[in-house]
Amino acid sequence: MTEWQKSDWREKPRVQMPDYTNPAALAEVEAQLAKFPPLVFAGEARRLKRQLGAASRGEAFVLQGGDCAEAFDQFSADAIRDTFKVMLQMAMVLTYGAKVPVIKVGRMAGQFAKPRSAPTETLDGVELPSYRGDIINELAFKPEARTPDPRKMLQAYTQAAATLNLLRAFSTGGYADVHQVHQWTLGFAEGEKAERYREMAGRISDTLDFMRAAGIDSTNAPSLQSVDFYTSHEGLLLEYEEALCRLDSTSGKWLAGSGHMLWIGDRTRQPDGAHVEFCRGVLNPIGLKCGPTMETDDLKRLLARLNPENEAGRLTLIARFGAGKVGEHLPRLIRTVREEGADVVWVCDPMHGNTIKSATGFKTRPFDSVLREVQEFFAIHRAEGTIPGGVHFEMTGQDVTECTGGVHAVLEENLADRYHTACDPRLNASQSLELAFLVAEELSGLRAARAAEARAAV
Ligand code: PEP
Ligand code: CO
Repeated sequence: MTEWQKSDWREKPRVQMPDYTNPAALAEVEAQLAKFPPLVFAGEARRLKRQLGAASRGEAFVLQGGDCAEAFDQFSADAIRDTFKVMLQMAMVLTYGAKVPVIKVGRMAGQFAKPRSAPTETLDGVELPSYRGDIINELAFKPEARTPDPRKMLQAYTQAAATLNLLRAFSTGGYADVHQVHQWTLGFAEGEKAERYREMAGRISDTLDFMRAAGIDSTNAPSLQSVDFYTSHEGLLLEYEEALCRLDSTSGKWLAGSGHMLWIGDRTRQPDGAHVEFCRGVLNPIGLKCGPTMETDDLKRLLARLNPENEAGRLTLIARFGAGKVGEHLPRLIRTVREEGADVVWVCDPMHGNTIKSATGFKTRPFDSVLREVQEFFAIHRAEGTIPGGVHFEMTGQDVTECTGGVHAVLEENLADRYHTACDPRLNASQSLELAFLVAEELSGLRAARAAEARAAV
């Protein structure tokens, strides 16, 4: 077999990608991006892969989260800070529940391109191409706005670079101090209606007090004042991905330089298609969305294509079936993975199978369905004796009203108040943290059950 080339995907059938009408402008943008520095380095992607390998063994837990689609007009330091902040709070609560390190991966600094259910949209008898994310075209329903413009890739690169720069500064510059993060969480747990979460927050406080008394705090333990924070996005716009691909001189392998982890969407995972072809050749950890239409034979082929050497941490299967449907699909996929002897991380995305239209016409997701899918995911892993390795949320640190429910209940009639998403509805800061507490309860329940099983076995 000839060696993989970063442009090989061009020979394969492609779906969900724009038809650029100006090839000269496209070529110019690609040439420019190819000269720009990569956003991430191979050593970081390898470190994330090692940590994901630990998650596949139950020695770490993944928290992946962020916008459905990053947007140019919502780009601000506050928005980045708020999402980073709530992810740190969630990670701390999850660490407490899981008693293992939590790997923090943002859907940030590159999550711009979107697959759509229809190639065009019709409004009042006018048909235009669908909006595909700010890296491709614009949301406004006008012919010029909906025409794919390759120059948007340069703006996306710039926004991704500035986002990542701020995330790196927050990660190591003192903002991530464990005591500060916990103070924020106490603010939530001490609030009205959050009694249910007060006990666990109090236990975390006790643990920190004990550690401080024993001489361990953020002034002398670097791991309590800085974090590793990784970026990820759907590897959808392959012209952009190819242009940012770089040869890693240490390993002689190719790095997707646009983010630490790329995932393949549920609509672009054809085993012989362009997206799988691109992702199979890069050294980064790869995610694969698995929805209800994932056939076991396709999964077998994808396991072989994307991780032929069965490297730990290389492949994360992101299950997204919808509440009430996990039992129908997850067991058969778990058995396929087992039959193939494949090493994977199982992550639950309880967002994409739970989107509904509210009576008022907004795309929304009920908090209770999101929680129920996570609980079903945990229950099935428990029954199968396999490892629930993480969770994947569409969320923001901002106080939006896009998903319904939660202790500070967003009601259907509130959806119009602060509905800002460029694409799918996101959990707001309070809903995100509340969900982290509930997932932490699942994790500690699982630990207790496994410990009891182990005791009974001796
Ligand atoms: C997404 O993660 O935003 C997405 C489109 O997911 P999926 O491919 O699972 O539908
Ligand atoms: Co989405």
